[in-house]
Amino acid sequence: MVNFWNSLPKPFFLLAPMESVTDVVFRHVIASAAKPDIFFTEFVNASSFCSEKGRQNANRRLIFNNDEKPIIAQIWGNKPDEFAKMSVELARMGFSGIDINMGCPDKSVLKTGSGSALIQTPEIASKLIKAAKSGGLPISVKTRLGDISITEWHNWIEFLLKQDIANLTIHLRTRKEMSKVGAHFELIPKIKKLRDEIAPNTLLTINGDIINRQHGLELVKEYGIEGVMIGRGVFTNPFAFETKAKEHSRQELLGLLNLHLDLYDRYSVVPHTHDDGIQKLMTPKFDPLKRFFKIYIRNFPGASELREKMMSSKNTSKVREILRNL
Ligand SMILES: Cc1cc2nc3c(=O)[nH]c(=O)nc-3n(C[C@H](O)[C@H](O)[C@H](O)COP(=O)(O)O)c2cc1C
Repeated sequence: MVNFWNSLPKPFFLLAPMESVTDVVFRHVIASAAKPDIFFTEFVNASSFCSEKGRQNANRRLIFNNDEKPIIAQIWGNKPDEFAKMSVELARMGFSGIDINMGCPDKSVLKTGSGSALIQTPEIASKLIKAAKSGGLPISVKTRLGDISITEWHNWIEFLLKQDIANLTIHLRTRKEMSKVGAHFELIPKIKKLRDEIAPNTLLTINGDIINRQHGLELVKEYGIEGVMIGRGVFTNPFAFETKAKEHSRQELLGLLNLHLDLYDRYSVVPHTHDDGIQKLMTPKFDPLKRFFKIYIRNFPGASELREKMMSSKNTSKVREILRNL
């Protein structure tokens, strides 16, 4: 199996996995604005994937197109047997790699012993990594500096670097810090030194508070890391990955919104199997789409009034009508 991590440009840029945001639709919008080198799916629960009841929801999160490659399926859970089973299927589905979430601080995830709870149970983390290798895809891990205090970083990161993984993405905060304090960029030199010493073949990606490619390149120049992951930066600037930062017109932003609406309609109707075993078509809820409006409708006169008008719409046709009447 080809390990795409070995043929990436250096530095490389990644769009962060974001639940209910970085689905196949939004990833295509970002690609059309300015494409990162690697995409991740939203995180997908291994227990859901492996159960009859949860499979449909898991599969929805795993929809991708070949034009998005290399694309990584991000998975979470704490049962090695499920990771092993899922990894084989993900390889069959055509994913380029698997990333294991060991950083999510959400309570519902923590109570299952998954996400950043794994920082406290390295023996399970190690079993999960081993199990995820069953499908033959390259394995990466996305994590935080530690659970409570940043002094924990050394033990945890050293442990992960010893697991023979292709890439380690570090969101430069602890679980307890959530996103309430600034990312600890000051720790990068020590982390990089450790990586160089014990796992020179594992790529190092940093994440947290990086607003665009230019910001990422400054950090690469200062610290010499290989990968830069950007998440919320695309909320204020969907063109965050462009090679030359510039102002974008209202026309361009509305163009992205129109693309989002078209893709939403295209991907909304997907066949799935009901309890009776018959394939039916499913239209997902419209309301979650509204959270994207503020990404495209901002920074121009009348933007907030326009956004308000759109918030009361009930379907994509109504949004298009409002846009046409602008
Ligand atoms: C709405 C939202 C959903 C997220 N979902 C995930 C997820 O599914 N998996 C994951 O590893 N991190 C998730 N994260 C964390 C981001 O990937 C990233 O680590 C975090 O936002 C910090 O990076 P940033 O400052 O560039 O946004 C999510 C963050 C946000 C804001």
